[in-house]
Amino acid sequence: MLRIPMVAILLAVGTLVSVAKEPADTNYDESKVPSYDLPDVLIDNAGKSVARDEWVRYRRAEVQRLFEDAVYGKTPDQKLAVRYEEIETDPKALDGRATRKQIAAFFGDEAYRLDILMYIPNKSDGPAAGFVGLNFNGNYTVHADPAIIERSTGKGRGTSASRWQVEKIIDQGYALATVHRDQVDPDNYQNDFTDGVHPLFYGEGQTKPEPTEWGAIGAWAWSLSRILDYLETNDQIDASKIAVIGHSRLGKAALWAGAQDARFAMVISNDSGCGGAALYRRCYGERIHHMIKPVGYWFCTNHQQYQKREQALPVDQHMLLALVAPRPLYVASATNDRWADPKGEYLAARHASPVYELFDKPALSQDNPPAPDKPIHTTIGYHLRTGDHNVTAYDWDQYLAFADRHWNSE
Ligand code: GCU
Repeated sequence: MLRIPMVAILLAVGTLVSVAKEPADTNYDESKVPSYDLPDVLIDNAGKSVARDEWVRYRRAEVQRLFEDAVYGKTPDQKLAVRYEEIETDPKALDGRATRKQIAAFFGDEAYRLDILMYIPNKSDGPAAGFVGLNFNGNYTVHADPAIIERSTGKGRGTSASRWQVEKIIDQGYALATVHRDQVDPDNYQNDFTDGVHPLFYGEGQTKPEPTEWGAIGAWAWSLSRILDYLETNDQIDASKIAVIGHSRLGKAALWAGAQDARFAMVISNDSGCGGAALYRRCYGERIHHMIKPVGYWFCTNHQQYQKREQALPVDQHMLLALVAPRPLYVASATNDRWADPKGEYLAARHASPVYELFDKPALSQDNPPAPDKPIHTTIGYHLRTGDHNVTAYDWDQYLAFADRHWNSE
């Protein structure tokens, strides 16, 4: 699939130009990556170096707060009342291999809902481990299954099936739960925060998030935790073995969800790029100033002050990945996905390693990404798939093997 940077899509709207143009100042030359110093994740805000107990006691929370203030905005602490309703269930879905469930979660005064699509493997010795992720275009795009309720129109049934590989997941004994991101916060490039979940949390007279309050990524991450809340109530699911996964912008959201919510036992970023796994300070491929006009609303408004000033950020993305420690973390890149900076994604995982080492977990030690299609699977997983910006069967093969390694081989 051809990768078209967001900015290019917007530039092309209304014209006959179909060839993608990337912003003229995009750097793809490794020799032009500026020299940079990453903030030391193990030195606290007062300048003191921290050991494992201090990381657990306060440094971890300090790092999370830095991301709230400078990158994604704070997620509200307030808990909304929720009621789950089973809309549909079929214990013999996918030729009898899975149970399909469609659950509506109604929040607050019930005007706001999320629709969860689930497949649970029928061949299972007990409650199933599984994967939770948001989909781009509607639950009915995840599989061609005619019984998936269509709530949005535009894309065809099953059009994203290759990105989800439902049969593969089920046959390996894992469940899948997904929600359409636009139900959480519509990703319509002119987001004014009136049409998704944000208004449920506004104070008196508030019409948009404050500069350090959550944007769209924050809302998407919030919804991933709400899916997990539901899974905790379902006795066919082992909620202590749930991986949160996402691709691209939804990979950014999966990382932020996994960083904030330690109930996610595994965190997987597929090609999440700038504002996801990639190091900001490399200034390679997409950068903050490229995102502001088209998709600045993904982040908190305060994030914008770091455009062309990446060195001034109090964090970099290795610190986001470190928030996942000591839980298993997987970062995946693709060779042609230069816009997402594959090397920067690898290096963030590499520089998160000191926090994994605090917990005696194996670290990534090599300075460069492994060769294409030669995955590394320890507590941190990484692969550089040959090909484009996408989620493929190859990616899922790695994630399933990684889940087996951590959950089924003990
Ligand atoms: C654009 C955007 C990326 C994002 C991607 C996606 O390319 O610039 O930051 O990851 O869209 O979500 O597909």
